[in-house]
Amino acid sequence: MMERTDRHYRYFMRQLTQRTLLYTEMVTVPAILHGDRPKLLGFSPAENPLVLQVGGADPASLATCARIAADYDYDEINLNVGCPSSRVQDGAFGACLMAQPERVAAAVAAMRSAVSIPVTVKHRIGIDERDRYTDLVDFVRTVAAAGCQRFSVHARKAWLQGLSPKENRSVPPLRYADVYRLKQDFPDLVIEINGGIVDFAQAQTHLRQVDAVMIGRAAYDNPYLFATADRDFFGATTAVRSRHAVIEALFPYIDDWVSRGTKLNSLTRHLLQLFAGQPGTKVWKRYLSEHAHRPGAGVEVVQAALSQVPVLVTA
Ligand SMILES: Cc1cc2nc3c(=O)[nH]c(=O)nc-3n(C[C@H](O)[C@H](O)[C@H](O)COP(=O)(O)O)c2cc1C
Repeated sequence: MMERTDRHYRYFMRQLTQRTLLYTEMVTVPAILHGDRPKLLGFSPAENPLVLQVGGADPASLATCARIAADYDYDEINLNVGCPSSRVQDGAFGACLMAQPERVAAAVAAMRSAVSIPVTVKHRIGIDERDRYTDLVDFVRTVAAAGCQRFSVHARKAWLQGLSPKENRSVPPLRYADVYRLKQDFPDLVIEINGGIVDFAQAQTHLRQVDAVMIGRAAYDNPYLFATADRDFFGATTAVRSRHAVIEALFPYIDDWVSRGTKLNSLTRHLLQLFAGQPGTKVWKRYLSEHAHRPGAGVEVVQAALSQVPVLVTA
């Protein structure tokens, strides 16, 4: 998610779950080809398994980006065919590509021929008037024929005109049944459902119908949700970390980045929701918001904030 799932957020999430597949923000082709590559693409090995999501439409340039991603050791490259923002539409990629399945197929084929890591697609169930189930089937069949084996499907259509990206995440109704049906019609494909899923009980319900669940906003607004992910979905027997232990585990990381010139609040902004719904959440957020942006602020600010949050002991 843009402005959300940067490397610091992902490193934080890895303190909660080792096995959940994490995604980068969408990075556009021109940014990858001409931008500050280490800054845009660099990550810590602790973040694997990690997917680089790219935004673009030109098969040859996407193939070059895929090669770069593989060299960086991403586990997968994912093409964004779901973003409806006007900036993305101006670039003729994102959700508007749902109207051009052949072009997406050509992009997938080009990327696949460039790398051995999986090439996957994230998309909507439809756009504008092109929102019948048969349109969705046509899209998936065409793109699968080019070798895409996993589809992350945001279970609502997007309106390319008239709705903001934010509205396009809430106004069009969720149509989970279309995604379930997709799995029935393409049993050999890996179908991942996305949209409106806020807890693991819901995720388990979806997993009776599809292969995987992608959680977006709830992973940011309630990160501690993922504390039991390895146990609940991957059979891990490791102990579930407390919120305090998660933050303590981050101290060396925070200290390291701040000592290399990173502003503390660009690290701590991702931590604000860790105590969501818990006693102490207000003081945690307030302390960090008031202190983390100050010049010279370092890990001691996080330590001080944490010391104000009550430790909950559960029997
Ligand atoms: C702030 C924000 C940024 C997002 N950025 C991206 C993005 O870069 N790529 C993408 O495929 N989807 C992006 N999305 C959409 C989410 O991945 C997801 O499809 C959508 O929010 C619905 O799932 P949810 O209800 O679990 O959040 C973004 C969503 C939000 C709220």
